[in-house]
Amino acid sequence: MSAGRVTGSAAGPSLARFGLGTAAVGRPGYITLGRDLDLPADRSVEAMRARTHALLDAAFAAGVRYFDTARSYGRAEEFLGEWLAARPDAAAQVRVGSKWGYTYTAGWRVSGADAHEVKEHSVAVFDRQIKETRALLGPKPDVYLVHSVTPDSPALTDRALHARLAALATEGVRVGLSTSGPAQGDTVRAALEVTVDGRPLFTAVQSTWNVLEPSAGPALAEAHAAGWLVVVKEAMANGRLADRNATGPDTAGLRAVAARSGTSCDAVALAAVAARPWADLVLSGAATPEQLASNLTAAGLALDATDLTRLAALAEPAETYWRTRAALPWS
Ligand SMILES: NC(=O)c1ccc[n+]([C@@H]2O[C@H](COP(=O)([O-])OP(=O)(O)OC[C@H]3O[C@@H](n4cnc5c(N)ncnc54)[C@H](OP(=O)(O)O)[C@@H]3O)[C@@H](O)[C@H]2O)c1
Repeated sequence: MSAGRVTGSAAGPSLARFGLGTAAVGRPGYITLGRDLDLPADRSVEAMRARTHALLDAAFAAGVRYFDTARSYGRAEEFLGEWLAARPDAAAQVRVGSKWGYTYTAGWRVSGADAHEVKEHSVAVFDRQIKETRALLGPKPDVYLVHSVTPDSPALTDRALHARLAALATEGVRVGLSTSGPAQGDTVRAALEVTVDGRPLFTAVQSTWNVLEPSAGPALAEAHAAGWLVVVKEAMANGRLADRNATGPDTAGLRAVAARSGTSCDAVALAAVAARPWADLVLSGAATPEQLASNLTAAGLALDATDLTRLAALAEPAETYWRTRAALPWS
């Protein structure tokens, strides 16, 4: 299946603009804010498998056709692969993006591990993880990203690695990167310059963009203009933009837009991403089917110019945003 691009409508974003990410449910611990409220006390493999499958069922039934996962999300690739195998009808209609470059090291612990994941963007890790990903996802992934690239990553300069990724691209996989940190824009622009045999190597990116941290926007617009698939993650700032957390004076504008549009803060946060013409896909990171349903009310929610101006005022300095994110505990 090709990983083509999608666009929205004048009335508001269509469901085709939304994807589901599996970071919150493929493993017992993660950094989003209300996990004790939203996940079963039993964080066994079976409980998390059941939750992941329930979310995939609900997302597919609602019309979501893009799923995001990674080697490092615990058993998320395994859970998604099982679901795809059990639902060949659905598998034929969805695109799957996964990522390599982080190794899961938490040993199914919720918190307290020395490191929950270890990053290494090397040929050796790529060679190991592409095999593991394919063993779990079958003919997928349609999109394969270097996980969490920053400007100092060897993924931007290692020619041997670039040759490996170019070979994968010739098999029909869209090769790209995800980005993190305050210099996401620099990372995207450096990646736009990478070529193999005179042709651009990367054709997909997944970056953080939300109303608190919009700094990557101009570089993502350039990537979109270059024909890349642009996917947005952390649209809810790891849960900071959910109604129950967006209670302070800093998010008053978000609450005002939710009240004006008769919807929730989470729907506005996702709709604000989908309002960017360069954002091909916006990920929901829902941990429950109820959150997913609420997130997906962003489909069809058209924000007006006044809404967008109000939301633009919420932006934090990128350094401040990423410092706050780095301090979020695993729970
Ligand atoms: N480097 C990378 O490549 C990278 C990094 C991060 C994420 N991602 C991808 O992007 C996806 C989304 O990112 P994310 O999950 O980190 O962040 P997010 O979308 O900013 O936050 C998702 C979290 O917000 C909370 N939430 C959502 N809707 C809610 C509602 N209606 N009410 C209350 N709380 C609500 C939930 O957390 P609680 O239930 O805990 O409150 C949920 O897990 C991930 O699944 C993953 O696929 C990629």
